[in-house]
Amino acid sequence: MRTQVGIVGAGPAGLLLSHLLQRAGIESVVLEARTREYVEHRVRAGVLEQGTVDVLTETGVADRLHREGMVHRGLELRFGGRGHRIALSELAGGRAITVYGQQEVVKDLIAARLAAGGELRFEAGAEAIEGLDGDRPVVRLASGEEVRCAVVAGCDGFHGVSRGAVPDEALTVYERVYPFAWLGILARAAPSSEELIYTHHDRGFALHSMRSPEVTRLYLQVAPDEEVEAWPDERIWEELQTRMATADGGFLLNEGEIFEKGIAPMRSFVAEPMRHGRLFLAGDAAHIVPATGAKGLNLAVADVRVLARGLRAFFERGDEQELDAYSERCLRRVWRVQHFSWWMTQMLHRLDVHDPFEARLQRSQLEYVVRSEAAARTLAENYVGLELEDV
Ligand code: FAD
Ligand code: PHB
Repeated sequence: MRTQVGIVGAGPAGLLLSHLLQRAGIESVVLEARTREYVEHRVRAGVLEQGTVDVLTETGVADRLHREGMVHRGLELRFGGRGHRIALSELAGGRAITVYGQQEVVKDLIAARLAAGGELRFEAGAEAIEGLDGDRPVVRLASGEEVRCAVVAGCDGFHGVSRGAVPDEALTVYERVYPFAWLGILARAAPSSEELIYTHHDRGFALHSMRSPEVTRLYLQVAPDEEVEAWPDERIWEELQTRMATADGGFLLNEGEIFEKGIAPMRSFVAEPMRHGRLFLAGDAAHIVPATGAKGLNLAVADVRVLARGLRAFFERGDEQELDAYSERCLRRVWRVQHFSWWMTQMLHRLDVHDPFEARLQRSQLEYVVRSEAAARTLAENYVGLELEDV
């Protein structure tokens, strides 16, 4: 098989890239290891930055997002049994976030690609990527098939094969693994608040989010090696009730049937540069952030916007300048987001080395963020997302 761009991975990065390329008249083939059913039902992110919503809207894949997505103009930080609202939109020039499940974005993109006659191959995992130093790289599939292309986009997530196709000596890796994980659930219960609640508690972090007026998404900080089996439903509700309770007893956390339960590790990771010859890494294949900043999906979208622009200049005019600048441009944003995600993580979690000094620093920082407009604005502008040009 031949195409212009071989895209490995049908997550948000790979699917959006193929959509943007098709609109620019560039041909691509998306190769995905899993089934369509699997990628459409994989529960992950929920928070879309303004810039992410804008690109989906401008390119015609946001009708359902605008019908079903929930626009949020603020969030709550809760600690010491009290809630404090951060007025995101007021502080960040009117920008807002939209709560809409990642798997819904994936469904919408798959439907748009198929409707446009796009080539999506499910159960077609890449096994190797070769010839990156020449101008005809090849993606080899487990089935023995080959895809020959001019450029390969490695959009296959943290555990994919693309990053491994770059020789070790050509990559520098920066990494931090946190001594905790998140247990995430979906429950058939109406959200207990109109906005997200990020809670810092002596027993650990808890997060209240949502997917719809009938479905709540909740997370608990747990040990990094925790097994889901150790968390029967009653234990989850008890722990959430304890961590999220307010001192005045006024907060009521709605409970309901738990129909999804999973544990996600917390990690910061960057592999530099994001390009090797004709291979461009995008999204989780190149970088991971802890979920506390709600940034992973948004960062993947920002990468492929830059990549699509570079590929357009390359295929239309043979101009490689933008592609040459791809890694550096993306990494500026990646590191801004790395810092923000790390900062939110260390401010809100119960740290493993919970020494009293560290605990006091944490508390002081939380109080400063909710009292100082300057500090709250820093949180707000990073949370809603910086414009592509402003990083
Ligand atoms: P992925 O979504 O991982 O997609 C990669 C695709 O490649 C997958 O479909 C995989 O099956 C496929 N693949 C892998 N190997 C191969 C191969 N060899 N050949 C072919 N295909 C392959 N981000 C946010 O922005 N906001 C949030 O609120 C948020 N919350 C999160 C909550 C949780 C619990 C988790 C786990 C993550 C969260 N994230 C969040 C992060 C976000 O989900 C990821 O950053 C996002 O999925 C990255 O998209 P991607 O397309 O780069 O990678
Ligand atoms: C989610 O709704 O899944 C979500 C929200 C905020 C985060 C992470 C995940 O920081």
